[in-house]
Amino acid sequence: MKIKDIEVGKLFLAPMAGVNDIGFRKVCKMYGADLTYIEMINANALLHENSHTKKLLETADNEDIKVVQIFGHDPYTLAKAVQSPLLAKFDIIDINFGCPAPKIVKNGDGSALLKHFDKIAEICKSCTNATTKPITAKIRIGFDVDENIAVEVAKICEQNGISAITVHGRTREQMYSGNVDYETIKKVKQSVSIPVIGNGDVVDNVTYQKMLQTGVDAVMIGRGALGRPWIFSELKGIKIKSKFEAIKCHIDTLRKLYSDNELCITLRKHFLWYIRDIPGASKYRLELATTKNLNESIKILEKVYSVAFC
Ligand SMILES: Cc1cc2nc3c(=O)[nH]c(=O)nc-3n(C[C@H](O)[C@H](O)[C@H](O)COP(=O)(O)O)c2cc1C
Repeated sequence: MKIKDIEVGKLFLAPMAGVNDIGFRKVCKMYGADLTYIEMINANALLHENSHTKKLLETADNEDIKVVQIFGHDPYTLAKAVQSPLLAKFDIIDINFGCPAPKIVKNGDGSALLKHFDKIAEICKSCTNATTKPITAKIRIGFDVDENIAVEVAKICEQNGISAITVHGRTREQMYSGNVDYETIKKVKQSVSIPVIGNGDVVDNVTYQKMLQTGVDAVMIGRGALGRPWIFSELKGIKIKSKFEAIKCHIDTLRKLYSDNELCITLRKHFLWYIRDIPGASKYRLELATTKNLNESIKILEKVYSVAFC
């Protein structure tokens, strides 16, 4: 399928703040993800060009198509962010209309915008007018528990120049619980002509097939990839060589950018996800969660993985 004039595959890694570091994205890409999103970046922070933001925007050598997500609520600031020199290397820019986090919503950003159709229209128009690159949007199906405005919002996005839309099949109030509303995702797909990307609870082939049955053009996976960047290969039926190699690549990629201390903090959560499903590995959890020594962590992972797989 194509996003504007860019040919893309069908399996995407979702943007995930605090998760999608450059190493994780590189490994997901190596293991079959067709698009790997950089986590949401504050449009204001982009304009200030601070060093933390610059680090988040580093891309991996295998990210042939570069996608970044931005958030904010002011159409002018978001359009300026789209034109920021820091985003020059990105091929696709996604706008966040779905983040449910209280501090984001309180500021009028993310899913708070689902309550303001006029603002969504203005943001889409100003961002798409600011560039020739494809601008995409990511939405939830509504804000309040039983609200269902996905079709309306998707149409507004399309009418205002958006090139593709991702639908996470939940409302803001649901946060990450309750069932994904496949029926609504299907309705969105039937209501717009731009590509629709289905998102929510895809963790294996059964849930992947369920999402594909809605007719979506592509599927986006978030939590299903935590500690399992090889999920994309599995869904594509590609045999995985070595899971431990993936972890090593994740670490080595980050080593080029971070000090040992920063590395330990950035990687700790990933390490715990990497061992989550391995039988007998729970006894290493505490050690992995507390050690401040990266080499120690690697030794533990080696032990766990040599016993379990390779
Ligand atoms: C830790 C975490 C961070 C997230 N950060 C973002 C983000 O930066 N931008 C965004 O649009 N969605 C974000 N999401 C939502 C995911 O992109 C995705 O829509 C959601 O997790 C549902 O998909 P899943 O069931 O495959 O995880 C985040 C989710 C998680 C769990």
